[in-house]
Amino acid sequence: MTTTPDTGSNAGSIVVLVSGSGTNLQALIDATADPAYGVRIAAVGADRDDIEALSRARRAQIPTFVCRVADFATRAEWDFALTSQVAAYSPSLVVLAGFMKLTGEAFLGQFGGRTVNTHPALLPSFPGMRAPEEALDYGVKVTGCTLFVVDSGVDTGPVVAQSAVGVDDDDTVQTLHERIKTAERRMLVDYVGRMVREGFTVTERKVTIP
Ligand code: GRF
Repeated sequence: MTTTPDTGSNAGSIVVLVSGSGTNLQALIDATADPAYGVRIAAVGADRDDIEALSRARRAQIPTFVCRVADFATRAEWDFALTSQVAAYSPSLVVLAGFMKLTGEAFLGQFGGRTVNTHPALLPSFPGMRAPEEALDYGVKVTGCTLFVVDSGVDTGPVVAQSAVGVDDDDTVQTLHERIKTAERRMLVDYVGRMVREGFTVTERKVTIP
């Protein structure tokens, strides 16, 4: 699959989906202040209210929307609504930045191949919700973060980029996760910019940015 740089009316625009503190989102917001970065955040969506990530978007005057699973009878209806809300902004790329829900069939039908997610471990090690804790419990000396193209599995999609982070003897889950997030923000800003500006190809599991 090839995703060439989008030259349409919404060229360079992304939608970012969030669930928490939004420091990865903030790194993207800060990067977009430089026109040379070539990316515009068209909207920020969340699966819950009252999170710092939404406040960060509002402070930056970026449109926001909230799509809560609890407001729908089925998960499929939620997924369909989320898809429509993202589609309204015609993004070139969708970025899941700490978004704690799995997107479903409708979403992947429309945005599969142009949705990326960031994960706080070196996949395929430690997929799922407790990656820094599981890395620490396992006793690994190196962990890190992974940017990948979302598919229907849990953290299974083709890898775009990875960054390694050392584990210190006295690390707690919090100190380790914070060190990973510092690397994660750098990786996210770098690769989202490159993917949007230059396009990318996915051939089987190989992601290439020309
Ligand atoms: C990141 O480490 C992300 O990979 C994980 O949750 C964290 C989100 O951090 N899923 P933030 O909300 O961007 O600060």
